[in-house]
Amino acid sequence: MSAPRRVRRAWWVLAIAFPLLTLIAAVGGVLIAGQGGFQALSVPHHGELKPATDAATLARGEYLARLGNCTTCHTRRGGAPLAGGRAFVTEWGTLYSTNLTPDADTGIGAWSLDEFRHVMAHGVSRNGPLYPAFPMQHFQHLDSADVDAIFAWLMSRPTIASDVPANRLEGIAGWRSAMLGWRMLFHRPQSLPDADAMGASWQRGRYLVEGLGHCAMCHGERGPWGSQEPLLRHAGSRIPGQGWLAPTLDRDTLSRWTVSDLARYLRTGTAPQASAYGPMAEVIQSSLQHLTEADALAMAEYLLDLRPAPRLARRAAPPAERARNLVGSHSLALYETHCADCHGGDGRGREGVFPPLAGNPQVTAADPVNLIRVTLFGAAAPTTAANPAPHSMPPFADRLPEADLIALLNHVRGSWGNDATAITPPQLQAIRTLPLE
Ligand code: HEC
Ligand code: HEC
Ligand code: HEC
Repeated sequence: MSAPRRVRRAWWVLAIAFPLLTLIAAVGGVLIAGQGGFQALSVPHHGELKPATDAATLARGEYLARLGNCTTCHTRRGGAPLAGGRAFVTEWGTLYSTNLTPDADTGIGAWSLDEFRHVMAHGVSRNGPLYPAFPMQHFQHLDSADVDAIFAWLMSRPTIASDVPANRLEGIAGWRSAMLGWRMLFHRPQSLPDADAMGASWQRGRYLVEGLGHCAMCHGERGPWGSQEPLLRHAGSRIPGQGWLAPTLDRDTLSRWTVSDLARYLRTGTAPQASAYGPMAEVIQSSLQHLTEADALAMAEYLLDLRPAPRLARRAAPPAERARNLVGSHSLALYETHCADCHGGDGRGREGVFPPLAGNPQVTAADPVNLIRVTLFGAAAPTTAANPAPHSMPPFADRLPEADLIALLNHVRGSWGNDATAITPPQLQAIRTLPLE
């Protein structure tokens, strides 16, 4: 009697388990395929290809590595160039960049060109899948001649033996294999869509903005777990862990620029429309100032053609006071005393020296973090070959009482046609207490 019952039970288990396992295998297969298939995960360790060593390739590799800003991310503060160890603070703890010098033990000296190509295309190295602090969504667009030139240049750099600190990441994020799950959910290899109708310089601009220049690492809105949302890649965002707003980049928000002024801004850090500060000043100083004029013009052309991201249904903002209702003789007197010498009584600045505050989207942004931060702590435009002694903006945090600071901020947000919401004391305090680097 008992044997048939056991058999029947076995059949039931099979009848449930088999479809379930099949389903799990099918979903897993789809997800593995989605992140680039097994091929993306199998790193070619022992390739034969050697890097080029001719001067022309090395010079090209150096130029490309500068635009990709490899050295900035792979150098710790005050450390040897490319030896790694720069800390990246994330919601899940601190992550360190790796040693990219040709040291065989701690760097990439034992790598073949095949392995380097694989890492740049797929974001998976011999150590496993990389964290998304490595710009894999962007570097996947690089063409192989450029990747080869970058590798050639890296392998020509001084060899530095340097172990980088171990990552300090919390929970599951500390487990590198969990990045396989992350990839399955969020990494979708993509090539840039065909755009044959567009001219060569537009194409070049797109390659530099979306690929090597990885602008969306800061200017893009993030999805869950540090993922990047392709449609929102220029939608503007607070930079994680830094308390700066990287503004929206598209043809509407950049409509006050001309192609040549925007190219000038990217190469020199200043233009009649704005001058760079904070993280953007660093990007220009370390990377973009080296752009050739043709490449800067190409990037500007592409940026000024970017279609605005689809508007997300946002929570309706609570009705807020308009700054222009708070403008009066007191705020005007403060402005005349503290700001007008440089930014002009009419808020229009002085061309190429002091940026305009009138009609400046950074001044009227819904998220006023940059405005408050610059006014409290001052700012310095980048030092570039074309602008070796930039003017800087003095800090006001310790010079004025809070009520005057707020009156001033509202004055610039509500004068000369600017029409933004009023700044409140808690907004100012939140920025005052930001941990600054
Ligand atoms: C925005 C910062 C950033 C930029 C820019 C950047 N990297 Fe990295 N890179 C990282 C971080 C962080 C890691 C470590 C990721 C990890 O541990 O998963 C990394 C890892 C790597 C690795 C894997 C090394 C290994 O041993 O696994 C390679 C190769 C690499 N980067 C090459 C480059 C090159 C070449 C460039 C320039 C074209 C570049 N990176 C630009 C942040 C950056
Ligand atoms: C490390 C983060 C970071 C990266 C990478 C970055 N930006 Fe920015 N960018 C910012 C921040 C923050 C600002 C706001 C401060 C300022 O205006 O200087 C900014 C401002 C700008 C502005 C000024 C917009 C305006 O209307 O005033 C332009 C244009 C710009 N970025 C273009 C780029 C391009 C093109 C790239 C890629 C090559 C890029 N950025 C990469 C952080 C970044
Ligand atoms: C001594 C001259 C000077 C004075 C005084 C001055 N600024 Fe500035 N300001 C500058 C310079 C130079 C920059 C550009 C800094 C940079 O690019 O890093 C700047 C930048 C700014 C920006 C950023 C503009 C942008 O494009 O995002 C704001 C906002 C600003 N100033 C507000 C003020 C306010 C408000 C006051 C008065 C409380 C003031 N400034 C007083 C010189 C000055």
